[in-house]
Amino acid sequence: MIDWKTLGFDAYRTRTLAVSHFKDGAWSPAVTTENFSFTLDPFAQTLHYAISCFEGFKTFRQKDGRVAMFRPDQNAARMIRSAKYLGMPYPSEEQFIEMCEMCVRGNMEFLPPYGYGASMYIRPLLFTVHPQMQLVPYPEAIFTVMCAPVGSYYGAYLKSCAAVIPGNYDRAAPKGSGSYKLSSNYATTFVPYQRAHDQGYTELLYLNSATREYVDEFGSSNFYGIRDNTYITPLSDSVLPSVTNKTLRTVAADMGMKVEQRPVPFEELSSFEEAAGCGTAVVITPISHIDVKPVLEEPDIARTFRYGPDGSVGEVSTKLYRQITGIQFGEIEDAHGWCHYIDV
Ligand code: PLP
Ligand code: COI
Repeated sequence: MIDWKTLGFDAYRTRTLAVSHFKDGAWSPAVTTENFSFTLDPFAQTLHYAISCFEGFKTFRQKDGRVAMFRPDQNAARMIRSAKYLGMPYPSEEQFIEMCEMCVRGNMEFLPPYGYGASMYIRPLLFTVHPQMQLVPYPEAIFTVMCAPVGSYYGAYLKSCAAVIPGNYDRAAPKGSGSYKLSSNYATTFVPYQRAHDQGYTELLYLNSATREYVDEFGSSNFYGIRDNTYITPLSDSVLPSVTNKTLRTVAADMGMKVEQRPVPFEELSSFEEAAGCGTAVVITPISHIDVKPVLEEPDIARTFRYGPDGSVGEVSTKLYRQITGIQFGEIEDAHGWCHYIDV
């Protein structure tokens, strides 16, 4: 029995996967399987060179019982963009959505019921399997969709967290892969994350690596700041185009706020009334304070930016959170048609 109340964000083992294999110029018919193992050649490209990209979005059991995926078309488009960047074969938007639906239908007993704040996280993954040493793309890949019932990413809904700007780490190279959802982008964040967590920080906030004069994003979410009824979020070619952020920009505008997507100078961090991370897994993570550490591993803190009394959650972030989760759970009208309903 799953305890829907205490779900975290884990690689839960469900019942089925959806899988398709691109070989000889075509995708094999997608199947759902209970076999969770892949057999890979030791020379498979993905193992050596990380030719792999993934996506993440949620599916909700709504108040009226319907099952809704939240904006899967956006994730399909982003995966296609990532795959093109890596020179891999990719599924069409239709195939992407169809296989995500197959995955949900094959795991209905793991879809959290309405009323617990929990949902089903869908994780599409695309990776190359051809055995190859040379650094050239090869047109063979596996596209698979897995899922996991999830609650909150950090163990509580809308709880404020501390963040750190690590002076000795970058997330993405200038003109690099930061705006694509590549597996390799995450690989290099594990150690700084661990070091930050050991010091009580939940999130890493990265500056633009070329000049370190602008705010880019968190390790697992985009950044936004609130000031004077304005929603301000970085425009940067190293930031992942977050579907949650895109949604919040519309939600904020609908609530009568001004919305600015533009470069955010580091100094501006001192002027925000609220600061937060936004993304599928976290939804909205209010930030209590941001420490600037020249060297993450050293005790020195060069500066601290504080947002509201420690532990409090800003009024605007609370409203934005209620609105986006209200739409996702079917409690508030979906005026923009973001919910993709599936027959189950
Ligand atoms: N930025 C990074 C680095 C992420 O890993 C994520 C994860 O989802 C996001 C931003 C948020 O994107 P989205 O709202 O599409 O989930
Ligand atoms: C998501 O929110 O989908 C993410 O990708 C975060 C994950 C990498 C932990």
